[in-house]
Formats: sequence, structure tokens, C-alpha cells
Amino acid sequence: MQSIHMRLLGALTAIMLISGGTAVQADDTAEAEVVCDVKKGERVFRKCMTCHVLEPGKKKTGPSLWGIFGRVSGTEEGFNYSKAMKEAEITWTEETISAYIENPRKYIPRNKMAFPGVRKEQERVDLMCFLKENTMDPDAPAPDGDGADDAPAEG
Ligand code: HEC
Repeated sequence: MQSIHMRLLGALTAIMLISGGTAVQADDTAEAEVVCDVKKGERVFRKCMTCHVLEPGKKKTGPSLWGIFGRVSGTEEGFNYSKAMKEAEITWTEETISAYIENPRKYIPRNKMAFPGVRKEQERVDLMCFLKENTMDPDAPAPDGDGADDAPAEG
């Protein structure tokens, strides 16, 4: 009796290992994909619209978000920032903007953006996609380009 049980167990383990291997592969593929939805991001952005515009050089209660990616915090010309925002000297990227809007008061203590935060990660991911599509000139060279061949190739 003992030995039959052992053999059965052995066979079961082998089957589990085979199917386990397949499952791991499937998970890897799923994890590599970053899914974001610009349309949903636009809806999240409504929370920001009371205070921010996307047009360059225009301000409301908050500074324009045009060109926000790559900008250093507190440097938009003509906007009266808090001391905290200017002294933070954070370069705005997907990661830093997301961390800031998750909990503005915690990320930059004493900054004056009166906004409670977007706590849902997926909403922030969608919002970043929307901002990327709407705060920079699609024809502009990449910010880290050398600018050597900015002129159009043909005229
Ligand atoms: C109630 C008004 C208000 C709302 C709503 C608001 N903001 Fe702000 N935001 C501000 C103000 C004011 C500042 C400047 C803060 C300071 O100087 O301390 C600011 C600053 C910022 C900055 C830094 C800008 C820079 O030039 O350094 C970013 C990025 C930003 N907000 C993004 C957002 C996003 C994204 C949302 C929506 C999820 C949002 N804000 C919602 C008022 C607001």
C-alpha cells in the first residue's frame, strides 16, 4: 500500500511541475505589458482642470502644465510658487509627477497645491499617458537630443 501511494504522489508532482512551468511563462508576458488608457486619463485630468491649463504660458490657480516633463519644479516663468516648491528642485518625470499627485502634501511638505491626491495607481498611470500626449510638441526633438540637426531635412 505504502509504495503505491508514493508512486502516485510522484506522478502528481511531475504533472504539477509541468503545468507550473507553463503558467510562469504566461505570467512573464502579462507583466511586461504596461497598459494605460489616454481616454480614462483625460477623465482623471478633469480634477486638475480647475487649477491647471495645458496651453503654454497660461496660468490659473496653478501653473501651465505645458512642457511639464523634464521641467524642474517651481520654474515656470511668471508663476508665484511657494518656497517649498522652488526649493524642492524636483525634475518632473512620469515617476515624480505620479508620486507628487498621489499625495501632494506628503511628497512636498508645505507646497501650496490644495489638492488631496489621486490615490488609485491605475488612475495615475492613465493620467500620465494623457499628460504625455498633451503637454509636449510631438514634432519637437527629444529633450536629450543634441539639437545639431534640428532644421528640417528638406525644404
Ligand atoms: C486647487 C488647485 C489645484 C488642483 C486641483 C491641482 N493643482 Fe497642481 N498645482 C496647484 C498649485 C497652486 C501649484 C503650485 C504649488 C506651489 O507653488 O507650491 C501646483 C503645482 C503642480 C505641479 C508642479 C508644477 C511646476 O511647475 O513645478 C504639478 C506637476 C501639478 N501641480 C500637477 C497637477 C495635477 C496632475 C493635478 C490633477 C491630478 C493637479 N495638479 C491638481 C494647484 C492645483
